[in-house]
Amino acid sequence: MALSMIYSPLLLLLVSCSRRVVSKTTGPTPAPLVPTSTLPTYVKSVVLKGESHTERLELLNPVNLTLECTWAGNQNKEPNITGWWLKDGNDVPNSRVPVELQNEQYNLRGVFSVNNDTTLGNYSCVFANEARIDFLLEAPQIGDVREKPIVSYIGDSTVITCKMDDTKPMPITWNWFRDNGTEKEQIIAESSRFEIKNDERKTRLVVHDLTEEDSGLYYCGAVFAISTPMSHVKLKVITIMEPLKPFLAILVEVVVLVAAILLYEKTQSKKKATAENVPSADQNNTVTQEEPNGPEGSPSTRQRKV
Ligand SMILES: *[C@@H]1O[C@H](CO)[C@@H](O)[C@H](O)[C@H]1NC(C)=O
Ligand SMILES: *[C@@H]1O[C@H](CO)[C@@H](O)[C@H](O)[C@H]1NC(C)=O
Ligand SMILES: *[C@@H]1O[C@H](CO)[C@@H](O)[C@H](O)[C@H]1NC(C)=O
Ligand SMILES: *[C@@H]1O[C@H](CO)[C@@H](O)[C@H](O)[C@H]1NC(C)=O
Ligand SMILES: *[C@@H]1O[C@H](CO)[C@@H](O)[C@H](O)[C@H]1NC(C)=O
Repeated sequence: MALSMIYSPLLLLLVSCSRRVVSKTTGPTPAPLVPTSTLPTYVKSVVLKGESHTERLELLNPVNLTLECTWAGNQNKEPNITGWWLKDGNDVPNSRVPVELQNEQYNLRGVFSVNNDTTLGNYSCVFANEARIDFLLEAPQIGDVREKPIVSYIGDSTVITCKMDDTKPMPITWNWFRDNGTEKEQIIAESSRFEIKNDERKTRLVVHDLTEEDSGLYYCGAVFAISTPMSHVKLKVITIMEPLKPFLAILVEVVVLVAAILLYEKTQSKKKATAENVPSADQNNTVTQEEPNGPEGSPSTRQRKV
């Protein structure tokens, strides 16, 4: 098992982001027969036609990775330019080299040991600040991300699931972690309320006998030799009264509203009673003075007066 993991061919998934780029991939070189300490090698070459390009490489296993960049240059075709490498935007120490124009193109190559989360990332070859190829090296990511929390009741059991896309490679196994406030604490399933059930691209964490303290962030980790990419799920454990809260809030609102309407009605009927008590003689005088046309004008006049 261990041997086959070391020597199994790397799975590389290449996603080209630009049509202007010609990509060619040299397969993994045959594994050496004796030394097991050195990493398998892999070469990735990209010919840049424009000014920049992004190449994604999905890695499962540690690898001694050779990245080769080829650029046709600009109109000047200077015989000698400077080339260098960036890792996550920072200069790779001692990577600056003069690059000569050969056969109408510039070639830059870098060899990197990529074996864990720190060495995965964004590698860029740069030609004289004018052209750049970014190589994004990452382990297969868990696409299935749940935004909404899982809500369960105290005393119940709950199942939290995580899934790797069918198009993605299968992890070696799955791990579960729980955010304990300071760090991700691994959940050991044996002899506790926790059960972990793995099924190829899926994993399920079962938590029995829920208490309010079980609320929080849970992480599933898809274990690959090179890294353990994670996804997270939020669990909320509530009492049976909790779901009634919105209902109670609505009830309170309704009571307040009804009270307000009743109060309003009461004041309105008082006002109405006052308005009807206005002497009619006064009204008639106003109408005849301002609007000789007659009784049609009277309602608006009355409103204005009141
Ligand atoms: C990676 O491969 C290069 C040759 O391509 C070799 O010189 C170097 O020693 C290798 N490094 C590791 C860590 O295997
Ligand atoms: C290219 O430039 C570097 C320093 O800028 C120099 O050491 C090297 O000799 C030059 N090469 C050629 C072919 O001009
Ligand atoms: C990769 O690095 C380059 C250079 O620093 C940066 O411009 C680019 O945005 C990075 N790409 C990603 C996806 O982080
Ligand atoms: C990753 O591997 C490098 C050696 O290639 C090592 O120096 C570093 O400590 C490792 N980082 C982690 C987080 O394991
Ligand atoms: C969180 O988990 C880590 C690792 O298991 C442990 O060292 C630490 O004491 C835990 N912190 C709390 C607050 O439980």
